[in-house]
Amino acid sequence: MSDTAFAIDAIREAGQLARYFFEHRDQLLVDRKGPQDYVSDADRQVEACLIARLSKRFPDDGFVGEESGLQAASREWVIDPIDGTTNFLRGIPVFAITLALVEDGRAVMGLIYDPMRDVLYEGSVTAGARCNGIPIQPVWRSMLSESLIGLCHSSRLHPDQLTARIAAVLRSGAILRQPGSAALMLCDLAMGRIDGLYDADLKAWDSVAGLLIAREAGAIASDFLAKPDWRTAPQPTLAVAPALYPELSLLWPEIQAVVCLP
Ligand code: IPD
Ligand code: CA
Ligand code: CA
Repeated sequence: MSDTAFAIDAIREAGQLARYFFEHRDQLLVDRKGPQDYVSDADRQVEACLIARLSKRFPDDGFVGEESGLQAASREWVIDPIDGTTNFLRGIPVFAITLALVEDGRAVMGLIYDPMRDVLYEGSVTAGARCNGIPIQPVWRSMLSESLIGLCHSSRLHPDQLTARIAAVLRSGAILRQPGSAALMLCDLAMGRIDGLYDADLKAWDSVAGLLIAREAGAIASDFLAKPDWRTAPQPTLAVAPALYPELSLLWPEIQAVVCLP
């Protein structure tokens, strides 16, 4: 079995566990990490399940896991066991598991599994972007006035920054979407369901897998790994249809600093 096939198997298994916990969420122990930021046994056990499986096959690899911390190596797996924990705990079936493989500081494989719909998104520097094994060929809008723009925000973001960004994009005629899972929003972008998204303040486990999927689908995407502290520091995440980038970067000038255009 190839490394990719193994990783796909592992994330699907983790997804079944997440789905089980979702269906039994009233029995979960929930802790508060910060304002509107929760973690439950589901997050911890799904991450532990993935790490146990991967480390058995790849004993020298490191891990950057949201719930279990950091173990750096030249090959590292970046894991978000449940992206969309608030949705998960409130009973909204919109959440995903993310898994990215970073080799010598470069993302080479990204997987995002939506266990409630049984959809697997895949990005690879050698095999491109796929959804349930089928190559993705997004058709994006080319004008903001016809676009859907994804906006995720955490409690870390100042409300004034968010409202200014929302007002600017709404004035352009675009419509906003906010599903509660940054990872699934990156998949929506890769699939051509939305045309751009930006969050100033995401973590590696929210972004690295999805940015690779978006880039391999043809989007302009920020490089989360450019800074040496990418494993711990929140960073901006941008993915946008190439034709929309000039218009969007006039409305949100802050995005000009987060991408290197060819
Ligand atoms: C959160 C989600 C959300 C984003 C937050 C993230 P979590 O991840 O991706 O959409 O707006 O910034 O922290 O906590 O559910 O894994
Ligand atoms: Ca997350
Ligand atoms: Ca999470």
